[in-house]
Amino acid sequence: MNVPLKAIGQPVSRVDGPDKVQGHARYAAEFDQPDLMHAAMVLSTIPSGTITAIETKAARSAPGVHAVITHENAPRLPYAPMAKRPQVDAQGGDQLKVFQDPTIRFNGQPVAVVVAETLEQAVHAADLVRVSYEHADGHTTFDRARGRAPSRGNEKAGRPADTEIGDADAALKSAAVSIDANYVQAREHHNAIEPHATIAAWDGDHLTLHDKTQWPDNDRDEIAHVFGIKKENIHVVSPFVGGAFGSALRTWPHVTVAALAARVVQRPVRLELTRRQCYTSIGFRPHTEQRVALGAAADGTLTAIVQEAFGQTATYEEYAETTLDPARNTYACPNVRTRYRLIEMNTNSPCPMRSPGVATGMLALETAMDELAVALRMDPLELRLKNYADRDQHKNLPWSSKELRACYRVAAERFGWSERTPEPRSMRRNGHLIGYGMATAVYPSHRAKASAAATLLRDGTALIRTAGSDMGPGTYTSMTQVAAETLGLPVERVRIELGDTDMPYAPVHGGSITMASVGTAVQAACQALLDDLAGVVKASPDPRLAAFKAGTPEWRDGGLAGPGGVISFAELMEGLGFDRITAEGQSAPGNESKTHSSAAFGAVFAEVEVDPDFGTVRVPRIVGAYDIGRVVNPKTARSQCVGGMVQGVGMALLEQAEWDERFGRPMNGNLAEYVVPVCADIRSLDVTFVPGEDTIFNPLGVKGVAELGLSGVSAAIGNAVYHATGRRVREFPILPERLL
Ligand code: MOS
Repeated sequence: MNVPLKAIGQPVSRVDGPDKVQGHARYAAEFDQPDLMHAAMVLSTIPSGTITAIETKAARSAPGVHAVITHENAPRLPYAPMAKRPQVDAQGGDQLKVFQDPTIRFNGQPVAVVVAETLEQAVHAADLVRVSYEHADGHTTFDRARGRAPSRGNEKAGRPADTEIGDADAALKSAAVSIDANYVQAREHHNAIEPHATIAAWDGDHLTLHDKTQWPDNDRDEIAHVFGIKKENIHVVSPFVGGAFGSALRTWPHVTVAALAARVVQRPVRLELTRRQCYTSIGFRPHTEQRVALGAAADGTLTAIVQEAFGQTATYEEYAETTLDPARNTYACPNVRTRYRLIEMNTNSPCPMRSPGVATGMLALETAMDELAVALRMDPLELRLKNYADRDQHKNLPWSSKELRACYRVAAERFGWSERTPEPRSMRRNGHLIGYGMATAVYPSHRAKASAAATLLRDGTALIRTAGSDMGPGTYTSMTQVAAETLGLPVERVRIELGDTDMPYAPVHGGSITMASVGTAVQAACQALLDDLAGVVKASPDPRLAAFKAGTPEWRDGGLAGPGGVISFAELMEGLGFDRITAEGQSAPGNESKTHSSAAFGAVFAEVEVDPDFGTVRVPRIVGAYDIGRVVNPKTARSQCVGGMVQGVGMALLEQAEWDERFGRPMNGNLAEYVVPVCADIRSLDVTFVPGEDTIFNPLGVKGVAELGLSGVSAAIGNAVYHATGRRVREFPILPERLL
């Protein structure tokens, strides 16, 4: 019975699952406060100009209304400058300052907020506010000619706009085989099921925010700067987040609106965005157009990669994506040139959306690789293997681990890639054209500083606390597993609390960094707890503990092992006379990113079924094999990959903002007309993890999974559509009319 408890690697069901399905898990808008009031925002209806008049009299005298706040009467807010956080903020420009001036920067900008006793009263009164504008010329079209380089910030983030190794243009000209094409990726919106919401409550100069956020500590920092108060005076609570996909990484203007409204009416205020407001009051994945040119020798060896991206940004902030990262290091190639250009538009600011930049860059790069394979008359998988990158050539570093070859092999076998006949339109079933396509998946792995507290309670159970969020990937569960394994406890005896700035600092819950960052902090906290406990045992005069004092303490089977057996944590706490013992643990990146490049990898294969008369595309199968380092929980990790595949079907075939150039806003700001995949669109999704532990990257050996899940999927589907139909659609999503 001396088998150590193994919690890591087990398909543990979500520890928060029962609370979620029974409605006990509370989301931001659900924290009732005494005397709660409701806010409704009024948004601008023009993309560019100035407010000349704002008529609020009718709204102010409407039933239940306590305040109508506009730029004319809003308190001036300090908006103290703060350092940009490259993980979440736009890299340049200035954030939108709510109700501080009459300038309109985009259609959908908050211009007033009404606060009333009930939500209905607030919404009604908001309808009564009349705004007059002087229109100004702006930009509501995506015009490549206006492309400009990002002005600042990117170099510091290790993301230069322009890079070149070798001479890619010359190599392209002299290449035996080459392709050169343009790809369009539509503007996409996160559409998490939980709308963004904030409840703000002041108590003197102390502010409590129940907010939807992927980074409670940053929410606190940001609002402290906006209001010019100490961050210690702000308490952010966000235990559950109903999906976010990047939309809750940064603190958007409506959080300030809620806090401002609560301050004006001196009562707690709830502000929940409507679905339509979620299209302009938070960010989105920017519309991006890319040129990819590839050159190769006759045997398929890449000799040139040129990738140029034009990405949409706002006029007041500049947000540039990591779109070109994959071009720089996914394949071995001596000549690589990349260039990122921004197209300023009168729009709200874009922001990261799952696999930010990389999903967009991979869509173009992996489609181009397929086009090159066709031009070479070479198998697309063979072309990838031929140009396998054994090092990160952009950073000139070895990978800390890379099992991509295994991913290609495993996924190809499970998919049955060898049954593919290369000629387009050569595979048919039941009157449909069948296509097989594949793509590489990659997402860089990062770590950030994190901390956690581990407490052993008198009953021998453990409590873990850290301020990090769980937006849905299963962080509650995976952190429980890390703690259980480190402490030698069954998972049922570990409880975890998340999402509260009163808890130890945690970094942004995004970029797939949580397990490598917060996970290693939880591991460190649990180890520190055991070390503290060992020290106390050694010093204890209790004769019952004498047998456990010699040598290195061995923790297993829910307690301390000694010559006479195991003394349980509960007995130990009893013997020591403790009610609880707490230790904190920190983890931080070391030197690993200077000596190695880290990334998670995968191979994605898709089958499509195209109706030759209607151009409708179905996706009967997607098969992916992934190298994510150590897999903490194969069940929740699989869910991440499956979710990415579903989102990839959306990106490839369905999702896009229908942008109205006259008004500068998406017309389809609702879930009826912004089309996402539903169950009927999805059939078999097959996920395998190849073995691999990356202990160079961090002591847990994990690399991160969530962002990776979307990478490459849409290109694999698009490549399958080409194989099925012989039509290369370079504008995504591949709508039926684009195939006719
Ligand atoms: Mo992810 S786009 O960092 O939530």
